[in-house]
Amino acid sequence: MKKTVSFEDVLLTPQYSEIMSRKEIDLSVYLTKDINLKVPIISSPMDTITEDKMATAMYRRGGLGIIHRYNSPKEQQKVAEDSLEESFYAAAAIGVTGDYLERARLLVKSGVSILCLDIAHGHHALMRHALGVLRNTLGQDIHLMAGNVATLEGFNDLADWGADSIRVGIGGGSICSTRVQTGHGVPTLQSIIDCSYSDRDALLVADGGIRNSGDIVKALAAGADAVMIGSLLAGTDESPGETFHENGEKYKIYRGMASKEAQIQWRGHFASVEGVSSTVPWRGSAEDVVRELETGIRSGLSYTGAKNILELQSKSSFIEQTAAGQLESSTHINKS
Ligand code: IMP
Repeated sequence: MKKTVSFEDVLLTPQYSEIMSRKEIDLSVYLTKDINLKVPIISSPMDTITEDKMATAMYRRGGLGIIHRYNSPKEQQKVAEDSLEESFYAAAAIGVTGDYLERARLLVKSGVSILCLDIAHGHHALMRHALGVLRNTLGQDIHLMAGNVATLEGFNDLADWGADSIRVGIGGGSICSTRVQTGHGVPTLQSIIDCSYSDRDALLVADGGIRNSGDIVKALAAGADAVMIGSLLAGTDESPGETFHENGEKYKIYRGMASKEAQIQWRGHFASVEGVSSTVPWRGSAEDVVRELETGIRSGLSYTGAKNILELQSKSSFIEQTAAGQLESSTHINKS
C-alpha cells in the first residue's frame, strides 16, 4: 500500500539564504499570458466565501476570487459584473451539466475571462464533455480551471481535455466529510506531490486543508503554482452572509457546498451529504488576512533562500517529522 504525507507530517529544512528583505521576494504567477497574480492565493467558489466583495478584496491584494455558482445564471452574472467595476479581470464557477453553457456565455459576455468548472469529482466523463464543449464554443482565449482531482492520472487527463489550471485535492477541506462519507480521498499534500510530476503545461492549484501560511509554503514547495483557500477567509467582512452576535462575540457561517444546509438552500433537497456547516469567529477584513498570509509566505521563501516560487520548488528540501516533532512544531507553552 502506498504511504502518503499530509501537511503536518513534513517540514522544510532551513537553507543558506542571501535574501536581505522579504520585499525582494517575488511571489507572482502568470495565470494567463495577461493575468499575473502578485500573490498566488485564490478564494474558493463557495456561497460563504466568494461573491463580488471577496473577489474585489482578493484582486486588491494581488490574488483572485472565484465567484460561486449557487444562484441563477443572471444573479451570478450580476455579481461578476459588480466585481468588474474595480477589477480588470474576474473569475467565476460553473458546473458541467444543466445550465453550465448558459452561465458560461453570460459570464463571458460580461467580461469574465476565467471559468472554473467546479465539481467534487473532476476526473469524470462529464468533465471531459464540458471542457470540450466550452473550448469549442468559447475558443482558446478563455482560461478554463477544472477540478477537483487527487491523482496524476486525473491531472493529466484534465490537462489533455483542455484545462489550463487544475484544482488538486479531494477530501481535505476543513468543512469536508467526503472521506468519511465515501472512503475516498488523498491527503492534499500527497496529491500535490503526485501531480507535480505531470509533464503537461496546466497550472496546479492546491485546494483543501490549507490552515496557515506554513501550509501554503509547503504546497508551493511541493509543486503548486497557487493555492485555493476557504476557511482562512471565512468569517471575514467580505465573505457573504450575516455577522451575528453570541455572548458578546461576532460570528459568521462557513459551510461546505455539499453540506445538508447548502444543498437544501440551493436545491430544495439533499442527497449525499459530504460537507458540514460551521460557525466561525469574525476575523476582520479579508485584505488583512491575505496581507498576513503573504508576509508568512515571504518569510517562508527566505528560510529556503528562494527569491521566487520556481526557486523554492527547485531548492526546497522536505523532511518527515515524528509525532513528538509535530508537538514541538506548534506552540506548546502550556503543554510542557
Ligand atoms: P478549506 O480551505 O480547507 O476550507 O477547503 C476549501 C475547499 O473545500 C474548497 O475550495 C473546495 O474544494 C472544498 N469544498 C467545498 N465545499 C465542500 C463540501 O461540502 N465537501 C467537500 N469539499 C468541499
